Amino acid sequence: MGSALFRTKNIEQSIEDTEAPEHALKKSLSALDLTVFGVGVIIGTGIFVLTGKVAKENAGPAVALAFVAAGVVCALAALCYAEFASTVPVAGSAYTFSYASLGELPAWIIGWDLVLEFALGTAVVAVGWSGYIRSLLDNAGWHLPDYLSSREGASGFGFDILAAALVLVLTCILVVGMKLSARVTSIVVAIKVFVVLLVIVAGSFFITSSNYKPFVPPTQPQPAEGSLHAPLIQLLFGWAPANYGVMGIFTAASVVFFAFIGFDIVATAAEETRNPQRDMPRGILGSLLICTVLYVAVSVVVTGMQHYKSLSVDAPLADAFKAVGHPFYAGVISFGAAIGLTSVCMILLLGQTRVFFAMSRDGLLPRFFSRVHPRFRTPHRPTILLGVIIAIIAGFTSLSELAELVNIGTLFAFIVVAVSVIILRRTRPDLHRAFRTPWVPVVPVLSVCASLWLMLNLPAETWLRFAVWMVIGFVVYFFYGRTHSRLARGESLGSGGASAGTGAGAGPAS
Ligand code: ALA
Repeated sequence: MGSALFRTKNIEQSIEDTEAPEHALKKSLSALDLTVFGVGVIIGTGIFVLTGKVAKENAGPAVALAFVAAGVVCALAALCYAEFASTVPVAGSAYTFSYASLGELPAWIIGWDLVLEFALGTAVVAVGWSGYIRSLLDNAGWHLPDYLSSREGASGFGFDILAAALVLVLTCILVVGMKLSARVTSIVVAIKVFVVLLVIVAGSFFITSSNYKPFVPPTQPQPAEGSLHAPLIQLLFGWAPANYGVMGIFTAASVVFFAFIGFDIVATAAEETRNPQRDMPRGILGSLLICTVLYVAVSVVVTGMQHYKSLSVDAPLADAFKAVGHPFYAGVISFGAAIGLTSVCMILLLGQTRVFFAMSRDGLLPRFFSRVHPRFRTPHRPTILLGVIIAIIAGFTSLSELAELVNIGTLFAFIVVAVSVIILRRTRPDLHRAFRTPWVPVVPVLSVCASLWLMLNLPAETWLRFAVWMVIGFVVYFFYGRTHSRLARGESLGSGGASAGTGAGAGPAS
């Protein structure tokens, strides 16, 4: 039993599986497509919405340092992701990587975790998008009734119709085909980057240097508002809850971390990449670097335009321009943000369906979901199922309830990937690695510590919710996945029947 839980999927088998015609995705993406995908999903609610909230409540102008801290955590993880993505070029991201290195149970855990991350991430961004669209509609004098608007802080029955509609439309685009969605994404990403550059360039003319004093506001004690809201680290060490100061920067980093989520999704498209060995590392590291520079610049400019205590928490970038008397710029920024959030939503949804697809192809979820569409060659079944579920979640749930859960799930995935790099170097030193993580095991170990540190700065209640989701995952695995797994049955995907395969029954990793 113990070794069954840690049976590993042979890496050559993983690559071979993707070549069975009825399961093969079209290989059409280049390094540039991947970078566009990365930037397309990375820049979103994090910079457009969360910057104002964390500057105001946690870090002041030092929110720029919070972005640097979160960026460092992601860069360490990216170095690990890039090695895996270039070694195991199949759909599924950290799920696939861990199946090839850590074993089936860890792979299931991470896959289940990624489903949570991407699904809720899609919902968070859809709700943020809906807010910007409503703000534009309001400018035009059109007001949606409350029961069709955001659920943030709302009471009574309501359904965020715009958020749900966005998810459903994007689901249809993804079903029709990867190439179409990549084209749409390129245009949207260009608009989004233009808007971010507009904020940086135009905003720099309105900076007042006194707004930076003090750059790191002094620590302020917080009234305790129920221990579960406090960061876990404060509970563990019995510290008094406090805002600002150095610890405030880390609290802010654990929240603005959301702004970086997405570079890992570039790795989920490996199977659809023309030359994954060369293009994956370029796509992942390139998009991460571009976004980090933009985030730091945006947060320095915005906290310079307006005192941090006056920043808006709904649309801080646009409202900073209103505050300095330029509503036209504010309108352009709101419009661009709404367009930009569309691409984030679409790519999160894409990553989500690809993980689900990979898990079902391995038999850990019903295999009904792993047949690609005969004409579009896309995994249409998981795309439609998950699209509908996410639309419902986006319609009924508030943004802030979900974002921290997304962060903890993603950080957990980073830890698994970093551990996998070390294990795979020992168990499969022979594998060709187009990209090698530098200074192994130092970089992966630093990546684990950095991710864990940010996790500890998230609220205790987020840890509890995450634990509940993972317990449900264990139940599904032990009652379904464990016995239906293709590895358990010794099946080869190509023949559809029992076969020795090429190492399908490879032994445990340890
Ligand atoms: N990084 C993405 C965003 O900020 C998920 O919206």
